[in-house]
Amino acid sequence: MRARDAELIVTDDEESAAKQVAELLAEAARAGSEIALTGGSTPGRAYELAADLEPDWSGAGVWWGDERCVPPEDERSNFGLARRTLLNRLEAHPGRVHRIRGEDEPAAAAASYDQELRGTTLDLLLLGLGPDGHVASLFPNSPGLTETERLAIPAEAKLDPFVERVTLTPPALRSARRIVFLVTGEQKAEAVAGVLAGPPDPAVPGSLIRAESGETLAILDQKAASRLRD
Ligand code: 6PG
Repeated sequence: MRARDAELIVTDDEESAAKQVAELLAEAARAGSEIALTGGSTPGRAYELAADLEPDWSGAGVWWGDERCVPPEDERSNFGLARRTLLNRLEAHPGRVHRIRGEDEPAAAAASYDQELRGTTLDLLLLGLGPDGHVASLFPNSPGLTETERLAIPAEAKLDPFVERVTLTPPALRSARRIVFLVTGEQKAEAVAGVLAGPPDPAVPGSLIRAESGETLAILDQKAASRLRD
């Protein structure tokens, strides 16, 4: 199987994909890296396994690639997902936790996150992938895809949950030293093919996101990789 400007790891099943990502997260935490987490339903298992592999994240910094504009206690919060599946399972919390303030007005939360991130290079950026090819909260043909200056912006959700978002922008995502896509399930197979094997296309936002001077890795289960041809 081939991918454009990205390395592929295809695993038998979802649990194996989670284990692969957990190992990368644990290694990054041990190294005191700046790690950006993703939200959604896919990464939770990887976070649980990462906490089991490495319970001491005291040297690491944790960021988010995007956030839903809801309070951290809301079940839709990406911070809340990480708190439940990763942070609360650690023996030593990350030394630096950079939460996107979902409870604030989106533009204000985005502006302050932009300032907080500016000057930092992400060592590991974890991204999921929507069935429409969105990454973080950069949705198909959305204005944020052409952003060149800001690192974080407010965004309108085009898929459930339909709450306003704050998302890192393509320049912020591309500056990561290592981008890791974690994608599983048959329902993502078409998006995976567009993102990894298709041309850069704003209709498929993930196709626009590769590490500018670092490495891009896609960890997929067989089902998500099923539309990738040799
Ligand atoms: C979010 C995520 C988003 C997610 C994809 C895939 O805030 O929802 O950052 O980009 O990674 O929507 O979500 P699933 O893992 O639920 O399929």
